Amino acid sequence: MRKMRTQRAIAVLASVLLIGGVAACGNSDTGGGGSKDDGKITMGFSQVGAESGWRTANTTSIKESAAAAGIELKFDDAQQKQENQIKAIRNYIQQKVDVIAFSPVVESGWDTVLKEAKDAGIPVILTDRSVDSADKSLYKTFLGSDFVKEGRLAGEWLVEQKKGATGPVNIVELQGNTGAAPANDRKKGFGEAIAANPNLKIIASQPGDFTRAGGKQVMEQFLKANPKIDVLFAHNDDMGLGALEAITAAGKVPGKDITIITVDAVKDGMQALADGKFNFIAECSPLLGPQLMDLAKKVHAGETVPPRIETEETTFTQEQAKEALPNRKY
Ligand code: AHR
Repeated sequence: MRKMRTQRAIAVLASVLLIGGVAACGNSDTGGGGSKDDGKITMGFSQVGAESGWRTANTTSIKESAAAAGIELKFDDAQQKQENQIKAIRNYIQQKVDVIAFSPVVESGWDTVLKEAKDAGIPVILTDRSVDSADKSLYKTFLGSDFVKEGRLAGEWLVEQKKGATGPVNIVELQGNTGAAPANDRKKGFGEAIAANPNLKIIASQPGDFTRAGGKQVMEQFLKANPKIDVLFAHNDDMGLGALEAITAAGKVPGKDITIITVDAVKDGMQALADGKFNFIAECSPLLGPQLMDLAKKVHAGETVPPRIETEETTFTQEQAKEALPNRKY
């Protein structure tokens, strides 16, 4: 009788160990490379930097949403440098986090580190900006905006405004940082939208790195080199806001002498639009945190997620900005 009880106890113990073993394998199969088995998801997040109001709002959204979702967040600010992002991602791989998420400062050059994450069984989510890797299996999904569409909406608005114009309309463009998806795509979308109107001409286009200081400095150069500027297309609000200072210092009236179109719709940008200094903004939402945490839970659980999830966005005229401003959260 005692022998039978001992045998049964051994059998129960063996099955417990077996189930535990299968569950552990299942965990790594789903890409959960986490070091602790406390049921809590750990996310390693590499942020681009703190270059703009948009970025600050995006960081807040990610930190708050991680806390609300019960996800342990390891956060790194790459200060606009790809090498810092690669270093951070390698650290997260070493620490065996469950999920890696990042907003790539530029589009190219990620294949090696993404492959390292894949080999370690850690799922990667791209957020805000995408990469140009041909191998789409290197990441689980992309969550963010359609930047080409934002540029196109900006261009279409301008075409509509200048419908009756017969003479040349000189446009200057402040691009985001070189090689970044929003800089490449907004340029593309805007260019395509105005292409059928030969009188709308981009006479100068330079990177202002998505910062106010960059926008101001490059706009000063544009103004010095070009006596007739009719339109500024800035790839974000912050560069537009920096450019306002240069335009005013040059004795011109922003929003009147020079039509100003930007992207983002952060509070300061919306204020400039409501004040008549900007003329049009294509929105880009930074509030990606809640969806990102949802996706992290899904990929960690081994669920299939769509390869691309786009944020819903709108556009603002001066009148619409006045209405929206009191309730603007960022
Ligand atoms: O990737 C999103 C862009 O990056 C925002 O438009 C800009 O403000 C930010 O720095």
